[in-house]
Amino acid sequence: MPRAAALLACAIALPSAAQSPAALELFVRRDKGHCIACHQVPAGAGPATRADLGPRLEGPRMREMGKRALRAIVVDPTVANPDTVMPPYGRHRLLDAAEIERLVDYLHALP
Ligand code: HEC
Repeated sequence: MPRAAALLACAIALPSAAQSPAALELFVRRDKGHCIACHQVPAGAGPATRADLGPRLEGPRMREMGKRALRAIVVDPTVANPDTVMPPYGRHRLLDAAEIERLVDYLHALP
C-alpha cells in the first residue's frame, strides 16, 4: 500500500514538474493563460463556466479565423482592438512562443 501511494504521488507530481504545461492547462491555469476566466469552450473541451467577458470559442469560428489570426490575437489583441480587456500574452511575455503555439493548436482543434 505505501508503495502504491508513493507511485501515485509521483504520477501526480511529475507532469507539472517535468513537462511543460499542456494546452488545456495553459488555457485554464491562473498563472498561465487563465483564458477560462473570460471565454467558454464547447462541452468536453474544457471546464464548464459561465464566463462571458469574451466570445465563446468554438471550432468552426477558430478554423475560419485560421492559425495566423489566432496567433496574432493571443500575442497582442490590442493591435486589432486597442480597448480590449484581453491581455497581450506575447507582448507582455505572459506566455512564451511555444506555449502560444500549443494554445493556437488547441483553439484550432476545438469542436
Ligand atoms: C480578461 C478577459 C480575457 C481573457 C483572460 C482572455 N480573453 Fe480572449 N478575448 C477577450 C475579449 C473581450 C475578446 C473579444 C475581442 C476584443 O475585445 O477585441 C477576446 C477575443 C478572443 C479571441 C477571438 C474570438 C473571436 O471569435 O473573434 C480568441 C481566439 C481569444 N480571445 C483567445 C483567448 C485565449 C487563448 C486566451 C488565453 C490565453 C484569452 N483569449 C484570454 C477577453 C479575454
